[in-house]
Amino acid sequence: MASLKEKIEVVKRIFPEGDTAIIAALHEVQNEYGYLHPEGVKLISEVLGYPEDWIMSVASFYHMFHKEKVGKYHIYLCTNLSCMMAGAYEILKFLKENVKDEKEFTYEEVECIGLCDGAPAALINGTPITNLTVEKMGEILREPEKFVQKQEGTYYDLKDLYD
Ligand code: FES
Repeated sequence: MASLKEKIEVVKRIFPEGDTAIIAALHEVQNEYGYLHPEGVKLISEVLGYPEDWIMSVASFYHMFHKEKVGKYHIYLCTNLSCMMAGAYEILKFLKENVKDEKEFTYEEVECIGLCDGAPAALINGTPITNLTVEKMGEILREPEKFVQKQEGTYYDLKDLYD
């Protein structure tokens, strides 16, 4: 299995010009640690040659990068219009009352995630979950592995295309 450094080196090969590689490298770090771990940011700095502060300032523009550690399962609950009208706030209330272990679960409200036809909707570690109900969220908190798929595929998987 490739090290994080090897993955970032592949990113550099894919995006050799300018600072375009930073975003892709940040994705690799978040895939590795679940958030932008300082060690991962340091590696980006070493491989791509940008100061760590600069890399974090780029990350600060993007909501989907976690600057702090999040739970093993991180829930983006949409509370935008379609989801709000379909009951997202009941689900949010349920999460507030029932999420106790922040090592296991963390959550945050987000704007539309493009799943309005399945409102209310959420993304959990990248897995789209639609037609949420309080009952369904209860099941997810009890047995998240039944609902959340491991996200496969990173820039590293494209390495053979850039040799
Ligand atoms: S409004 Fe919730 S997914 Fe679009």
